[in-house]
Amino acid sequence: MDTLKSAASYVADFISGPMPEVGIVLGSGLGSLADSIENPQVLPYSKIPNFPVSTAVGHKGNFIIGTLSGKTVIAMQGRFHYYEGYPMTIVTMAVRVMFLLGVRTLFVSNAAGGINPEYHIGDLMIINDHISLQPNPLIGPNLDELGPRFPDMTRPYDPALIRKAREIANKLGWSLHEGVYFGDTGPSYETPSEYRFYRTVGGDVVGMSTIPEVIVARHCGMRVFGMSVVTNEASGDFAEDYQNDGEDVVKAADAAASKLTRIFKELIASL
Ligand code: HPA
Repeated sequence: MDTLKSAASYVADFISGPMPEVGIVLGSGLGSLADSIENPQVLPYSKIPNFPVSTAVGHKGNFIIGTLSGKTVIAMQGRFHYYEGYPMTIVTMAVRVMFLLGVRTLFVSNAAGGINPEYHIGDLMIINDHISLQPNPLIGPNLDELGPRFPDMTRPYDPALIRKAREIANKLGWSLHEGVYFGDTGPSYETPSEYRFYRTVGGDVVGMSTIPEVIVARHCGMRVFGMSVVTNEASGDFAEDYQNDGEDVVKAADAAASKLTRIFKELIASL
């Protein structure tokens, strides 16, 4: 708690103006949403005491505080992944710092592989549930100040926000998928049999992030809304020379970033 509080008080001192009420985690290739934030105050993670730095491809390492759709938001331009070697307490630290600053609604985004055969590159999916093969970030002594030992996970993603996102997409004439995010640790991509396995047990997309952040956010009672961008198709047979490539993933996410930005902005306006 002391580590979290000292980081939060550094960020709070840096912010001029109101404290953020909405947090946004920008996944691989989705950092451009930050360009829509008005009057941005940019705080590099490297300046914050005890804070990790993000090393993943397509991830800058900044908090951006400003106004989006009339609300004060704090965006993470670059997140932390378990595969970078950080313990889960560090992977999820920024979300808890956001909570201590006053954030009560969290938007998460990620690039993910489509394992539902109906999903194609560039499609967007509203996350309505998840399955995790990553270690649980709440393992260890419970931080009672933040939340209970055994937090409920019946509704990890807020049903009202999901409904609103559906309405926004309908109004815009966009078809969005709605499905289950399967999280594993990476950093190696999945084998064909692993992709099939994750699909068989109920996953629609697979990625290496997001779930730890959602768990700590739910632990402290934040509302969560999440979306995935499908950056590669991972159902069915792969061509003999097919390779998964991190750079292609970032490019595909980039291309879908403007649609995701629009949905996040309209949802934030409706809060
Ligand atoms: N697997 C895991 N993570 C990913 C993928 C994938 O196929 N695509 C983008 N992130």
